[in-house]
Amino acid sequence: MKNTVVVGAQWGDEGKAKITDLLAEYADVIIRYQGGCNAGHTVVVNNEKYKFHLVPSGVLYKNKFCFIGAGTVIHPETFLEETTELIERGVDLSSLKISPLASITLPYHIDIDGISESNSGKNKIGTTKKGIGPTYSDKIGRYGLKIQDLYDEELLNSRLDAILPLKNKMLKEVFGTKTYTKEEMLQYCKKYAEIFRPYVYNEWVSKLSGILKDDKKILFEGAQGIMLDIDYGTYPFVTSSNPIAGGAATGSGIGPTHIENVIGVTKAYITRVGEGPFVTELTDEIGEKIRNIGGEFGTTTGRPRRCGWFDAVLSKYCVLVGGLTQMAITKIDVFNDFDELKICIAYKDIRNGKIYKDYPTNINMHKYLEPVYETLKGWKSNLSDAKTWEELPLNAQKYLKRLEELVGIPVKIISVGAEREQTIILENPFK
Ligand code: GDP
Ligand code: IMO
Ligand code: MG
Repeated sequence: MKNTVVVGAQWGDEGKAKITDLLAEYADVIIRYQGGCNAGHTVVVNNEKYKFHLVPSGVLYKNKFCFIGAGTVIHPETFLEETTELIERGVDLSSLKISPLASITLPYHIDIDGISESNSGKNKIGTTKKGIGPTYSDKIGRYGLKIQDLYDEELLNSRLDAILPLKNKMLKEVFGTKTYTKEEMLQYCKKYAEIFRPYVYNEWVSKLSGILKDDKKILFEGAQGIMLDIDYGTYPFVTSSNPIAGGAATGSGIGPTHIENVIGVTKAYITRVGEGPFVTELTDEIGEKIRNIGGEFGTTTGRPRRCGWFDAVLSKYCVLVGGLTQMAITKIDVFNDFDELKICIAYKDIRNGKIYKDYPTNINMHKYLEPVYETLKGWKSNLSDAKTWEELPLNAQKYLKRLEELVGIPVKIISVGAEREQTIILENPFK
């Protein structure tokens, strides 16, 4: 068994898609297990850029079974746009399937997310406004629709009878926005039932048990990151699902006993989009330099990403709650022109000087924390063509070794550029 989870070990956008795409070559099955079209996953192959939101990043290889699991929320319009574009670009989607148990992001979920964010003033989360929170709330509250509900007219009618009166009351009286008639919703559901039909996979139980029996190699693709996890992230400034590796089990329907490796993808620095605490954030010209060189603007929303130095305190926490077995470090090339690099090794409470080496999960006190840094020398050369560890400049090797030491797990993959080829794989989990 080599089954491997790729999980973001910061606040998202770590380069998970690049790592998933890379490893997908060696896997038989790729499963996206949580999140929705809040995800923006970029893969670059031969100068061609692909942006995925819902479709697993392994889809660029032929004949890999790509599955969008029960833990995801699917926005029909985004799915249609994304699949249409991929087909137009010649990508074969015949092996792409959706779990009938996945939830649907409905038009009013998007409306509610947008209005909630606009009305929240200082308390806003800074969501992607893709309806993620409202869809997951309805799922947990048992007020949602699942993909399979689209194909049973009688059931769909009775579900809408149960859902719509309350939803419309909320839309009108709480949010002051437009309501939806049952007829409108039925038409919407009918349209997308047809669009989803070739992808819906009702045979997933026998398929997945066959995959396990035949010891096929499974790659689980996480969206967002551990620090955005609804339970373990910086709540309430989080997403509404479980990106942590445990979420791979619940979101795919494949138990934790079938998972062997968990790759935590982290940038050589950290970024965050949206609100919430960020102890190593750089609001000065160094942050600006990282943002510009790293192209740190959101794939989904285009927002500038907040940037900061690598935080080993946070990373150790991610190793713990994410069950990480190894790291993939991305975007190390962004530091090619830096004289020195800082790594946060502890937090200091400015009120009393108390030092925290373990991540304090109470974010209400993070405004009192400042980073304690260790400084390392930069390498001041272009490492983007390095193909092996030995070809990396000595100071880059030292930086990576220090990260390993501080975080406590080995670095097995080093990404030195956006292209698939610009990667040093020290150990392939599938080989
Ligand atoms: P994800 O959401 O974790 O998949 O990450 P995103 O795709 O949102 O953001 C990562 C960005 O960095 C994308 O534009 C990638 O093409 C790019 N990228 C990934 N790895 C590297 C790398 O090693 N170096 C550089 N310069 N860019 C990278
Ligand atoms: P990928 O998969 C970075 C952030 C939003 C916001 C918070 C809640 O590309 O790494 P949501 O729309 O989920 O309710 O927003 O989570 N967020 C992400 N940040 N990358 C993502 O996905 C994100 N998905 C959500 O910015 O702070
Ligand atoms: Mg992203």
